[in-house]
Amino acid sequence: MNLNIAVLPGDGIGPEIVKVALDVTKAVCCKFGHKLTYETALVGACAIDAVGSPYPDETHDLCMRSDAVLFGAVGDPKFDNNPAAKVRPEQGLLAMRKKLGLFANIRPVTTFPSLLHKSPLKAELVEGADFMCIRELTGGLYFGRPQGRSEDGSVAYDTCVYSKEEVERILELAYTYAMKRRKKLTVVDKANVLATSRLWREVAQVVAAKYPQVETEYMFVDNAAMQMIQNPKRFDVIVTENMFGDILTDEGSVITGSMGLLASASVGEHTSVFEPIHGSYPQAAGKNIANPLATVLSAAMMFEYAFGLKDEGALIREAVEASMKEGVVTEDIVIGNGKAYKTNEVGEWLVGYID
Ligand SMILES: NC(=O)c1ccc[n+]([C@@H]2O[C@H](COP(=O)([O-])OP(=O)(O)OC[C@H]3O[C@@H](n4cnc5c(N)ncnc54)[C@H](O)[C@@H]3O)[C@@H](O)[C@H]2O)c1
Repeated sequence: MNLNIAVLPGDGIGPEIVKVALDVTKAVCCKFGHKLTYETALVGACAIDAVGSPYPDETHDLCMRSDAVLFGAVGDPKFDNNPAAKVRPEQGLLAMRKKLGLFANIRPVTTFPSLLHKSPLKAELVEGADFMCIRELTGGLYFGRPQGRSEDGSVAYDTCVYSKEEVERILELAYTYAMKRRKKLTVVDKANVLATSRLWREVAQVVAAKYPQVETEYMFVDNAAMQMIQNPKRFDVIVTENMFGDILTDEGSVITGSMGLLASASVGEHTSVFEPIHGSYPQAAGKNIANPLATVLSAAMMFEYAFGLKDEGALIREAVEASMKEGVVTEDIVIGNGKAYKTNEVGEWLVGYID
């Protein structure tokens, strides 16, 4: 098969972790006889520095003509610490989501037996936890307008907006996944306070009637945040709006053991994007210490979701689990007094395993 991908490393640790994921992708293509072509492009702070835009037109054109996008992370402290900056790296991410029509972000949360000890939660609580968070990605507070400041700067406002169509679209997708899994869907909202949440619940009740095989439950986001820690095994598929999903999935990373382990796929109308859930971790940039596994596992999702190549994705997962069992891991998930491997060393081990 011909695999034609766009590679967007972005900022901070992005280039280091994406290099590992790309090396793993190349090794898998070699093993299974696929022809890989890829092109790299700028996104985020590095794109602002080079051409003044966080998501340049050339980058968008490349994404549009590719079959999948492998993405690292964007963000730089020089923008984080300057609230007055007019152009920001994260605008690149939002523009990419909007222009590619990426309305859903799919984030599996699972545990790895050899890492149970890394979770701050009791092993018996997290062992066997296996759920999927489906986050709406192009609506809500992050995109709603008006957004801004009053003339004298003393008041700021964001607007949360959802249309019936947007809610329906993400719910249909969530039910498709629930049907393929354990047939339980938790719709997370704040319907006791927010008008947008009441629309979510109203639409969910209509869509739910089409899927009687799926057990649907409704849960307020504050309760969901608590239940995810108290009893993560109760969840199968969670669907929620943009900001709630952003926050709950970071919380989910605690169950897995590290931010450096959670992969995701953003899917929608055009090319899908495969990316770790974490950011550009600027403190680690250039130090060769960041965990590349979330990006490697995102590449596994790329094989499965973008190309329908299940065995290839499964081999990557197998290699990742084997690296953990062998203790070939970065400092964030090092086991006991074991050695902390460098980012590139973990990558070389994975490629060796796949070969
Ligand atoms: N999708 C994205 O590109 C994205 C997502 C979130 C944040 N950001 C941006 O990233 C920058 C840093 O944000 P932040 O510090 O809030 O979030 P972050 O995810 O970059 O880092 C938070 C913490 O998670 C851990 N971590 C993250 N990635 C890791 C990895 N690969 N290996 C090991 N540990 C890891 C580290 O302890 C780190 O301090 C900001 O500019 C922010 O806007 C970008």
